[in-house]
Amino acid sequence: MKATPCFITLAVLRKMALVLVFLLFSTHPAWARLSVDADILGQVLQEAHALFADDTEGANADYIPELARVPSELFGLALVTVDGQVFIAGDADYDFTIQSVSKPFTAALVLQEHDDPEILVEKVGVEPTGLPFNSVLAVELHASRSVNPLVNAGAMAAVSLVPAESDMERFSKIKQFHEAMAGQELSVIEEVYRSEAATNQGNRAIAHLLKKYGRIYADPEEALDVYTRQCAIGVTARVLAMMGATLANGGVNPISKEQVLEARHVPKVLALMLTAGFYDESGRWAYDVGLPAKTGVGGGIVAVVPGKLAVAAFSPRLNQAGNSVRAMRAIEYVSQRLGLGLFQ
Ligand code: DON
Repeated sequence: MKATPCFITLAVLRKMALVLVFLLFSTHPAWARLSVDADILGQVLQEAHALFADDTEGANADYIPELARVPSELFGLALVTVDGQVFIAGDADYDFTIQSVSKPFTAALVLQEHDDPEILVEKVGVEPTGLPFNSVLAVELHASRSVNPLVNAGAMAAVSLVPAESDMERFSKIKQFHEAMAGQELSVIEEVYRSEAATNQGNRAIAHLLKKYGRIYADPEEALDVYTRQCAIGVTARVLAMMGATLANGGVNPISKEQVLEARHVPKVLALMLTAGFYDESGRWAYDVGLPAKTGVGGGIVAVVPGKLAVAAFSPRLNQAGNSVRAMRAIEYVSQRLGLGLFQ
């Protein structure tokens, strides 16, 4: 009987210790990051929009003539959480061309269709080039030729690896995969497709150079055309954020709940985005923001926070590397404000 008071005291002490540990961890910044308050997400998005609303640095892409005609002042932001909450600010529903933001999704489709992570390593490459997205020099410099699926050479090689009997089947598989990622139907913006198809001699040269080196796996003209169509798929900031959230959610679309991409392929796609998503600015982006992300010359960027959310931004004015100045700044702001960087 004498042991009872001592036993009760120990139990109470144990409970107090547990409460103390919980309080300590729940106020530690690293722990707090795991459960960002939903109310603040929309607020931070609005802050980012207001902060950069007057930022006019950079210029529309004009090497695809139709892109020069997109109103430069458009600015939209969207954030989608893995549990399907959507927050938007500004022109989040304006339809623009996905351009290179499509590249990681087609790379994901290749992984899925071949059910083998080595397919990209062996047939395309997974190293950053340190050179611009349309570099012909990179094809000559690197033994892998196409170098990685996020530059134009590697993206066309990836398109050629989508198993298909015809160009129509190839494009329809790519489009359907993008649609499943987005959880909605998407359409090609035909004027931009035609505009790029009429002016893409640089990409045509790259496709044929890859053919010379045996590093494109379909007819180069077909791969070029399907790639050009893929780049002209219309998206919005809201759609891009949903596609990113599907990656953040282990390949499951947060709304449709479809397992679009097998979970084991997701880290491979995110690794490519972190190391090559901004071309010759990828190191700087990883250094400043520390999130896998992908840019496109249409002005879109999507950044993925694995297990939590995705943020997308759209603003047509680009810097010299072909990355949207204001979209980069807005996403960096959101990431810093919410402490989202992976290496913090
Ligand atoms: O092939 C091209 O040049 C374009 N369709 C896509 C390039 C692109 O988006 C580069 N991104 N920042």
